[in-house]
Amino acid sequence: MRRGPIASLLGIAVVAGAIATAVALAFPWLPKPASREAGRIDFEFWFVVVICIVIFAIVVAAMTYSIWKFRAAPDDESDGPPIHGHTRLEIVWTLVPTLLVTSIAVTSAIVLSRDDALGKNVLRINVTAQQFEWSFSYPDANNLTSATLMLPKDRSVQLTFTAKDVIHSFWVPQFGQKQDTVPGLHPTLHITPDRLGTFPVICTELCGLGHATMRTTAVVMTPAAFEKWLKSQSKAVGSPNAQVSGKAVFTNNGCGACHTYAAAGSSGKVGPDLDKLAAYAKQAGQPLDTFARESIVNPNAYIQPGYPKSVMPQPFGTQLSKSQLDALVSYLTGPQK
Ligand code: CUA
Repeated sequence: MRRGPIASLLGIAVVAGAIATAVALAFPWLPKPASREAGRIDFEFWFVVVICIVIFAIVVAAMTYSIWKFRAAPDDESDGPPIHGHTRLEIVWTLVPTLLVTSIAVTSAIVLSRDDALGKNVLRINVTAQQFEWSFSYPDANNLTSATLMLPKDRSVQLTFTAKDVIHSFWVPQFGQKQDTVPGLHPTLHITPDRLGTFPVICTELCGLGHATMRTTAVVMTPAAFEKWLKSQSKAVGSPNAQVSGKAVFTNNGCGACHTYAAAGSSGKVGPDLDKLAAYAKQAGQPLDTFARESIVNPNAYIQPGYPKSVMPQPFGTQLSKSQLDALVSYLTGPQK
């Protein structure tokens, strides 16, 4: 090959590479990472993208040049020249991909093993998924339960998942990882949040009518703020004399994901509007208190016309303590609303 073809090939490759690079950089393809694990996954992603851009540029250059220079004349129906292999070329095009794929495999393996390696002083959190809510409990803090995933910054966190009914999937885009939750299995996921902020927790497995509403938030706070939050929550829940707050029961059990209730500031649309509870009770011909209690404990006993059957989670009757249930009923029916 003389200087002319090489310059043309290089020119085309540079243009193709520049266009591909512009497309890669112009759009926010990935959210800004908020965990060390996501940072490593991002590195791996860009490592592969750079390799792809280089290969893309070479292929486009070779293709464009061939179409341009070696195009057969319209009336030329003769066979192409018989070419029988080119050992050096074949060694090169075997060796280069082998090295590239091996380097991707090695860096991926390093990322995976470092992402899975728990740090010191691990914070363990049990995550429960059920139609259509997430709940998080902290076994080291008296099994304190929260509907929001509260996390301290820069601490190794291990989530252990339990699915109560069907398959769900846990995803915080900024943490870069997804984990399916399968009934009967208890998979774990390791995250080390490294950026303060509030991020969405999304269910990414179609799990029923309320799938789209199965969302909550993850809050990454400073370690001091996290300890303070743990203490304030433990006080509210741990002390036997503490008044159980109906609003806390409502929030911690994710009721607002499906129900509208002005007092709780929720606007869920899957289940009946709880601001109209008194009217519904009248329609069902039951006293308000009995009606509210039965609807929580045995949700399929009466279905408000216009709302779907068998969507409300069943286990609240056994999951809530008597005082929690009482507090919730009076929160929904009482004057404090
Ligand atoms: Cu749970 Cu989708």
